[in-house]
Amino acid sequence: MENYEKQIRELLDKMTLEEKVGQLQQCGPSLVGAFEVSFEELLDMMFDGRISQEEFGRLMGTAKQDFHEENLRAGKVGSYNGIGDAATVNRLQKIAVEETRLGIPLIFGYDVIHGFRTVTPIPLGESCAWEPELWEKTARMAAKEATAAGVHMTFAPMVDVAKDARWGRVSEGAGEDALLNGLYGQAKVRGFQGDDLKKNDAMVACVKHFAAYGAGEAGRDYNRVDMSMQRLHEEYLAPYKMCVDAGARAIMPAFNDINGVPCSVNKWLLNDLLRKEWGFNGMTVSDANAIAECVNHGIAADGREAAKKALLAGMDMDMTSNTYIQYAADLVRSREVPMAVLDRAVADILRLKFELGLFENPYKTDEQREAAAMLTAEDRALAREAAVKSMVLLKNEGDILPLSKNVKVGVFGKNASEKGEMTGAWAIGAKPEDCVCLTEGLANAGIAYAVDDETADVLIAVLGENKDQSGEAASRADISLPEEQIALVKRLLATGKPVVAVLFNGRPLAIPFVAENVPAILEAWHPGVEAGNALCDVLFGDCSPSGKLTVTFPAASGQCPMYYAHMNTGRPGGKSKFTSKYLDAPVNPLFPFGHGLSYTRFAYESLTVTVENQVIHAAVTLSNSGSREGDEVVQLYFRDPAADRVRPVKQLKAFRKVHLCPGEAATVRFELPVTELGYYDWNMNYCVDNGTYRIFAGGSSEAELEADIIIG
Ligand code: GLC
Repeated sequence: MENYEKQIRELLDKMTLEEKVGQLQQCGPSLVGAFEVSFEELLDMMFDGRISQEEFGRLMGTAKQDFHEENLRAGKVGSYNGIGDAATVNRLQKIAVEETRLGIPLIFGYDVIHGFRTVTPIPLGESCAWEPELWEKTARMAAKEATAAGVHMTFAPMVDVAKDARWGRVSEGAGEDALLNGLYGQAKVRGFQGDDLKKNDAMVACVKHFAAYGAGEAGRDYNRVDMSMQRLHEEYLAPYKMCVDAGARAIMPAFNDINGVPCSVNKWLLNDLLRKEWGFNGMTVSDANAIAECVNHGIAADGREAAKKALLAGMDMDMTSNTYIQYAADLVRSREVPMAVLDRAVADILRLKFELGLFENPYKTDEQREAAAMLTAEDRALAREAAVKSMVLLKNEGDILPLSKNVKVGVFGKNASEKGEMTGAWAIGAKPEDCVCLTEGLANAGIAYAVDDETADVLIAVLGENKDQSGEAASRADISLPEEQIALVKRLLATGKPVVAVLFNGRPLAIPFVAENVPAILEAWHPGVEAGNALCDVLFGDCSPSGKLTVTFPAASGQCPMYYAHMNTGRPGGKSKFTSKYLDAPVNPLFPFGHGLSYTRFAYESLTVTVENQVIHAAVTLSNSGSREGDEVVQLYFRDPAADRVRPVKQLKAFRKVHLCPGEAATVRFELPVTELGYYDWNMNYCVDNGTYRIFAGGSSEAELEADIIIG
């Protein structure tokens, strides 16, 4: 990475205090339309049902967008969020470059979470592919489309470990495991940023939400996070650190507090840990309005104090709360905030603009490039591959799947033909008309089908959630299926015909009745633009499912939070009454982390484990004992059964996706440094015990094979 510190210093020396503060300001396009309300209020009106999604879209289309151009000309804007078209980006950039005193270019941020126009499966779905190469490819594709539309930075990857299925934003990350979130995040950082940020198709990865946003109490969004430092380090921080190590150039602190100090004003988090201990020298940008919301948290008496605490903590850019633009200059003049602190924040922002090449090349796209970039056949093909690999076959009793292409299928459930529902949460650049729904997929595949036709040979019940039932501000206290979906399943089962359940959802759902009574269940998540085609690829056997769950499926909402890497407790279970359980619900999951079936059969045998030079060598033999080729994700877990602090019953430490033809076998080998088995003791010292460890290998967290190894 080139060094820009000299240019940054020279520019800072020219800047007035007001111009420095202007660089900290990120604006969103606010709408002045029929409602004369802000964009955020319009969103609220849609989410709480005061206006329909269609009405929202109409208003968005008709409302005049206010881009704060007067402030821009006055040097009071450094960045925009949420502008995704080349013409507007270039028009505003031209004002910044040609009509402000110093001509400092703008940086444009956007939420490119799982595709820009070619929407791929929601991240929770894509994570079930357990394939870093795929995750990187879809990120590269998203970067090409988004940068063609003028985007310089995406507010992604989201790598918040999420162990509570009630939380709506579990849909936006890679599930409940820290290692998977870290590997997913690293792949996305590589894909988004490419090998040179100066390239026109590279965009900054802004990793979020730092930190532990997924641990909100009661699964409620934005809620408090309170945990030991041991747990924070062992279970939540690793994915962000892995993304910083992969070269991510921006970080978004989370809305939540950690142990009483909101991340936006948390000096330990943003300065001591992120910058000093981890060596991060990129930019921090707040979440939307988060600095001002520190008043609601109760950590600041007013916006001015919130701005002061955020600046002193190490928050560089203010996303749309307008507290920096209002108070930062005065805070510096009064010496409550040293000029050096302001300069450090401005330097982080200028550095990103230099790294993106925006000073010499402020117009990185144009409308011709934009028009040619979207929804190419190649990108649709990749979206279809990602959707197929994201799907998880939860159950397949009697090998009812794959279906013959000669059957006539009856399709039930409104989301079988709701194109817009296929995008899932956070697909703000998507257009419903781009999506292939299930009924269109059936037509494309030449399958005879009829909607709501119980006389058909096989009945497909489309169940689950609408896209606005997951994502931000979409926590659910009850994650079971609605009564009408259960009634539909009962009606279809009563016909005596084979029934297949297809789930479109953004989180694990508690589906005990379906799991018990429906012979085949395919988890499709929200699969993106190629939903219908990918579903038919799997349902009719052109592709064998290979997805594995990256979240645990509880049997009941009341079991949440439920996750595989849990502690054993002193009374883990058994016949006695006095064990850790529920009187009214099972204590085990419906479908465990790592679970996923194939159309073939895989067998595991002969796990061998040795240790040499502080490295554990594990080998397991996998064979395809079925009649079709297929992919299997071999998973390696371990447990420290007797430590100085209790340890989880299992922790994922490695995995490998293996393709085998019928009758083929392979020995899969893993190497695991002993240091990976460590944890933090009571005094926060990282330690690796000598003694016995249990190693597990298999096709899910209920891994079939185990072997003990002695370290030290
Ligand atoms: C939202 C989300 C964050 C997103 C930001 C910008 O509130 O919390 O994930 O990147 O606003 O749109």
